[in-house]
Amino acid sequence: MKFFVTCARGTEGALRRELVVRRIHAPRGATGGVSFDGTMEDGMKVCLWSRVAMRVLLEVGSFPASDADTLYAGTRAADLRRFFGSRTTLAVTATTHENPELHHSGFAALKVKDAVVDALRDRMGHRPNVDVKNPDVSLILHLRGRDARLFVDLAGQPLHRRGYRVAMADAPLKESLAAAVLALGGVPADRPFVDPMTGTGTLAIEHALASRNIAPGLRRAFGFERWSDQSHLPVFARLKKAAQDARLAKAPCPILARDISAAAIQSARRNARAAGVAEDIEFAVADVATLWPHDPPGTICMNPPYGERLPGPAPEQPLDQLYASVARTLDQMHGWSAVILCGNPLLARALRRKHEISHRLWNGPLEARLLVYRL
Ligand SMILES: C[S@@+](CC[C@H](N)C(=O)[O-])C[C@H]1O[C@@H](n2cnc3c(N)ncnc32)[C@H](O)[C@@H]1O
Repeated sequence: MKFFVTCARGTEGALRRELVVRRIHAPRGATGGVSFDGTMEDGMKVCLWSRVAMRVLLEVGSFPASDADTLYAGTRAADLRRFFGSRTTLAVTATTHENPELHHSGFAALKVKDAVVDALRDRMGHRPNVDVKNPDVSLILHLRGRDARLFVDLAGQPLHRRGYRVAMADAPLKESLAAAVLALGGVPADRPFVDPMTGTGTLAIEHALASRNIAPGLRRAFGFERWSDQSHLPVFARLKKAAQDARLAKAPCPILARDISAAAIQSARRNARAAGVAEDIEFAVADVATLWPHDPPGTICMNPPYGERLPGPAPEQPLDQLYASVARTLDQMHGWSAVILCGNPLLARALRRKHEISHRLWNGPLEARLLVYRL
């Protein structure tokens, strides 16, 4: 079986390493995702364990499609019976690049939907209904030039939705991007961890989950649990049981989550509770300027505000003053490492120090830098 696992651009290296740790054979990098050949068990393992992946796509068709007719014919030839029963619902999304006849993704998705519905009606005697919000089966078309690849999404809801984000604050990171920041920044589980600008707590919660070896997918449901053919579910039950047994009772080192906004800390606390790691994290309402080093040294990890409008209760504090305050705090933290997701080049300049790693990645459409310093 051929899989394509999607992730945020710039995080492919972290995803490849995760797959190798899970004994997936020879994952190959691509922009925005990683491919591998494996079994259904491998695909389910990635859904359950990957912290960085967004979607796990199983290829169900690969054919040339230069126009609407060839797209329809190629899709119609794919055998999708194992996914659909008489009441299964369906959604189709498409991305298209460099195909002059099929440059409109909505039109390409509609053609695929028509072909699937017609093929299933002929082969099984019933047609699936469309449900774009909460489908049982999500089909995804990737069209690049004349090469069409049709996938079924194993995850269903994207994997960054772990199910613990019950409270919001300003500009939260996607859970999968926070996990990639920790992985690419080399944040160790056996050292103290501080996020002094925690917002909804994503970095601290993801660090707590990783430190306790908690599989990020343990608390959520997956698309493959809703397919008509359920023969893979006993294997999934075994994977889940092994993941439950692998959890550590508590994080090996202190984790501190601070923010100047009391409302943000309240959200972070609620999210940590929903993730089952509230006991592992100490929360505090505090200005980054008041952070002081303690022994043993660990990692300071953060995603400072990057826009014109500052979240929090001090919107009058200009960004350059805030960044200068972050720089003074880092000056105090001798022996610590700093892992910073930097959405604004002014911040890197304000820190006035040489980074050990500077890595480009994308926070949705926004380009950002992951900067790592030894202080
Ligand atoms: C971009 S958000 C962080 C988002 C967070 N990583 C998440 O996933 O939710 C930046 C945070 O910095 C906080 N902040 C702004 N000024 C601060 C200061 N002087 N000290 C501490 N926190 C501050 C804001 O309240 C906001 O929650």
